[in-house]
Amino acid sequence: MGDTPVITLNNGVTIPQIGFGVFQIPEAQTAAAVTTALEAGYRSIDTAAIYHNESGVGAALRSAVVPRDELFITTKVWNNDQGYDETLRAFDASTARLGLDRLDLYLIHWPTPKRGKYLDTWRALERLLSDGRVRAIGVSNFLPEHLRAVADLGGTVPVVNQIEVHPALQQRDAQAANSELGVVTEAWSPLAQAGVLDDPAVLRVATAHDRTPAQVVLRWHVQQGRIVIPKSVTPSRIAENLRIFDFELTADELAAIDALESDGRTGPHPDHFN
Ligand SMILES: NC(=O)c1ccc[n+]([C@@H]2O[C@H](COP(=O)([O-])OP(=O)(O)OC[C@H]3O[C@@H](n4cnc5c(N)ncnc54)[C@H](OP(=O)(O)O)[C@@H]3O)[C@@H](O)[C@H]2O)c1
Repeated sequence: MGDTPVITLNNGVTIPQIGFGVFQIPEAQTAAAVTTALEAGYRSIDTAAIYHNESGVGAALRSAVVPRDELFITTKVWNNDQGYDETLRAFDASTARLGLDRLDLYLIHWPTPKRGKYLDTWRALERLLSDGRVRAIGVSNFLPEHLRAVADLGGTVPVVNQIEVHPALQQRDAQAANSELGVVTEAWSPLAQAGVLDDPAVLRVATAHDRTPAQVVLRWHVQQGRIVIPKSVTPSRIAENLRIFDFELTADELAAIDALESDGRTGPHPDHFN
């Protein structure tokens, strides 16, 4: 997995602690962005059926010089495809677009509790796991009660819960519930879509370390054990975001960033999103 630290998931599979997110990258630009990321040293790519760019990810993977077993590819089942049979079909469609026989990580994108299908969807993911079609299965945007309902099935425990976490929305209760169940927190929009990069506290820490604000925020995440999946289409930023493993924030600096919590959710609330 190159020089990037890895985290060992609850099933023994390892995942790079930083991945490249491709949300909102148009399909036509995705192959180039993913190629840039792979050349910079990323080995983990995070996409989703709803991003409509899995084919672009697949094109980059086909032309990559990196061996398949050094790559970690994640995609997600979209809300409309929840349900046992629907999920199995959605998985086939996603892996076909990606050009992969086997996926590394498959996630339920949102719990959509009003649909009432996430447990059946989870059973489909367990089937894909036991069939060897995917190496690990997890969830995204699950509140503690949704995660506990999955754990209460008594089968496979999700390896990750990919949730919105950044300095303005830290979701400490959700992170604690993840940890209690052995589920790693993977932070989406780790930079708050660039919304926290001009904060004076972040700028102060960045100046002290001669780093950029984005590097400081990503370092704040990884120092607390989270996986991060920042997105950028800018080659210099793609490379910059990876250079976060050769410096360390002090306890005071971590606390200064912790103090930026402001309930600043950028995405929908998981209970209301359908
Ligand atoms: N599971 C979910 O429901 C969910 C929801 C949202 C996102 N995600 C995942 O999380 C990934 C990241 O989230 P995100 O794309 O919403 O937000 P993000 O990674 O927090 O921020 C991306 C924004 O920050 C800018 N940026 C990146 N690096 C920068 C740097 N070094 N300096 C200054 N600006 C920088 C990017 O600009 P440029 O691109 O113009 O450089 C872009 O506007 C997504 O791509 C997706 O894979 C998952």
